[in-house]
Amino acid sequence: MTKQYTARIGLLSAVSAMAMGVAFVAGPAVAADPGPVPTIKVDAKKAALGKRLFFDPRLSGDAELSCSSCHDPEKGFTDGEALSSAYAGSNGFRNVPTLINTAHKAAWFHDGRVGTNLNDITRESITETYNMNMDMRLMQERIKQDPVYVKMFKDAGYGEPSNGSVRKAIPEYLKTLTSRGSPYDKGEMSEQAKAGFELFKGKAGCISCHSGDRFTDDKPHKLGVPNNPAIWNEPERHITFVTFAKFQGLENYMNLRQDPGAYIRYHDETLMPMGSFMTPTLRELKQTGPYMHNGMFDSLFEVVNFYDQGGGQDKDKDPALKPLGLSFDEKNQLVAFLESLSGDVLNGKDFVPEEIDTEYTVIDDWRKAKN
Ligand code: HEC
Ligand code: HEC
Repeated sequence: MTKQYTARIGLLSAVSAMAMGVAFVAGPAVAADPGPVPTIKVDAKKAALGKRLFFDPRLSGDAELSCSSCHDPEKGFTDGEALSSAYAGSNGFRNVPTLINTAHKAAWFHDGRVGTNLNDITRESITETYNMNMDMRLMQERIKQDPVYVKMFKDAGYGEPSNGSVRKAIPEYLKTLTSRGSPYDKGEMSEQAKAGFELFKGKAGCISCHSGDRFTDDKPHKLGVPNNPAIWNEPERHITFVTFAKFQGLENYMNLRQDPGAYIRYHDETLMPMGSFMTPTLRELKQTGPYMHNGMFDSLFEVVNFYDQGGGQDKDKDPALKPLGLSFDEKNQLVAFLESLSGDVLNGKDFVPEEIDTEYTVIDDWRKAKN
């Protein structure tokens, strides 16, 4: 069901309830609980093109990395590592986030630094030196020589392959990645998971930040997650971190020993403390570990333990975090609930293209192709 459709139904039922002069009768308590993530309408041909581009290593400078190298459908569109890899010669300093439901977000990356649209994220992912390190002009010339792309761009209504349409087609594909099939959505939670959901909404207080159908308030908070020492111990990660910190205009970037997170938005600790990160979705966690912006926790049980202790040691952490006094059974109930929010692995043909032939014969008139 699309978002618009849901909104219309909501309006209609409110109107008809008023017209009939009856109060809207809510069902049992579950009516207020978050629902499934709505699917988004897409243009099938544009999304199919975006799907091929997403899996195509020719979009990176050295033709070795595709979006899917780091965002693997088998792992919920993450890479299963604590910290990301990066373009040859550097290494990442953040955990790869899932792309499932990402089209529902309004601000992206762990620090929420891009708040415009997925078109911009696509550009940044392709061109950023420590990501795919690609010059988009070179990319355009590369894909223009592949007869399959020439046809697909045309069929999708984009005309000749261009940078602009690559930046539109990939987001169209990302819109197809919506959670589905979780025990939570199907009403098939175990008794243990149901008990966990009550804790989640009640005693453990998780829902104050993990709210809505994706289980996130889409805001940054400081939890005091410990730093991942690999960022400062491994030279190839360190160079990437230092470069990033310098790009962000952080005064003390050479000596910084903490990921600034959303601090970069204001450069003012009173507005946003260093080490604040966007609340992530809790959907598809079974596919996406390790957890947190720096992959510091391998299992959901470790995450729950962290919250049970009231979060990390930092004095300026979010005041909502308090020791919870959970029993062993309660911790397992919370884990069972979190697991019930995971559904189908999106690895079927709707999400993964047929093999991409990069040994293609270039189009006949490749010298004459116009821009
Ligand atoms: C080298 C690994 C790598 C490659 C290649 C890569 N990404 Fe990412 N992606 C990441 C990491 C790491 C982050 C988190 C970065 C951060 O928070 O600073 C991320 C974040 C994102 C996000 C934001 C998700 C969110 O919830 O905030 C989107 C969307 C995304 N990538 C899409 C893409 C697309 C599209 C491509 C291909 C054009 C791509 N990525 C290629 C590693 C990669
Ligand atoms: C004050 C807001 C807040 C509260 C309360 C809160 N969380 Fe979180 N949660 C966050 C933020 C912010 C992150 C990301 C932190 C980071 O990346 O370093 C997070 C991360 C997580 C993750 C890791 C997800 C991933 O993909 O890496 C899980 C699991 C989680 N929270 C579960 C819970 C549970 C269970 C509770 C209740 C016991 C809870 N949270 C309470 C804000 C909160």
